[in-house]
Amino acid sequence: MTRTLAAVAAEAADCPRCRLAEGRTQVVFGVGNADADVMFIGEAPGFHEDKQGEPFVGAAGQLLTRMLSEVVGLAREDVYICNVLKCRPPGNRDPQDDEIEACTPWLVEQVSLIQPRVIATLGNFATKFVLQTAQGITRMRGSTYPWHGRTVIPTFHPAAILRGGGETSRQFGEFRADFELIRDTLRGLESPPERITVPEAPPPPEPVTASGAVSSPPSVTVPEPIGVPDAEPAPEEQLELF
Ligand code: URA
Repeated sequence: MTRTLAAVAAEAADCPRCRLAEGRTQVVFGVGNADADVMFIGEAPGFHEDKQGEPFVGAAGQLLTRMLSEVVGLAREDVYICNVLKCRPPGNRDPQDDEIEACTPWLVEQVSLIQPRVIATLGNFATKFVLQTAQGITRMRGSTYPWHGRTVIPTFHPAAILRGGGETSRQFGEFRADFELIRDTLRGLESPPERITVPEAPPPPEPVTASGAVSSPPSVTVPEPIGVPDAEPAPEEQLELF
């Protein structure tokens, strides 16, 4: 039987899988709607997140929440927010390879259970990890990428926008445009794909024999109906996602 997201979060709460377990205040699993269409993935919890047990609650999180409501028209509760790493690296240092490897199964379970249709990666680290690319965020942002039946939309990390001067930063316009892309992609998903209908063929004329009797009709091959593509991503995708 498939576990619920709450059950997975409860199990993760005392995760011993890597050295970050020793220094954390608590595991920061993720927050939001377990049935969200859009999932935001950041790097790792920072100081405030470690203390409060919720991702993106500091200044960067406030900017994320603001862009969500102002541009996408969604509240934090409507989406799902998490990080690649669920525990704070000491002093906010970069995640290490063995920590990422140990933590990835939690993210795979989150994606598998929530089945988001759009994944927004926040910053260089999450983007490189999810899309398995060496390209930096400046090159990757502004586009959508197909990923296991879903759409990935990379954007800057909100903390990088704040460091660059917030709304006055050179990148703020691009950051906002990425949220517009998230909004438009979600709107596009709302309308079901156009139905393709096959026009009915007129019935063949009834053949008449010399005696006037109606003979058995010749067999007619009915073409296969044209399938309408399934708008839903493949369910229960317990694959190697990363
Ligand atoms: N930065 C992140 O990448 N994640 C958080 O949760 C907070 C800051």
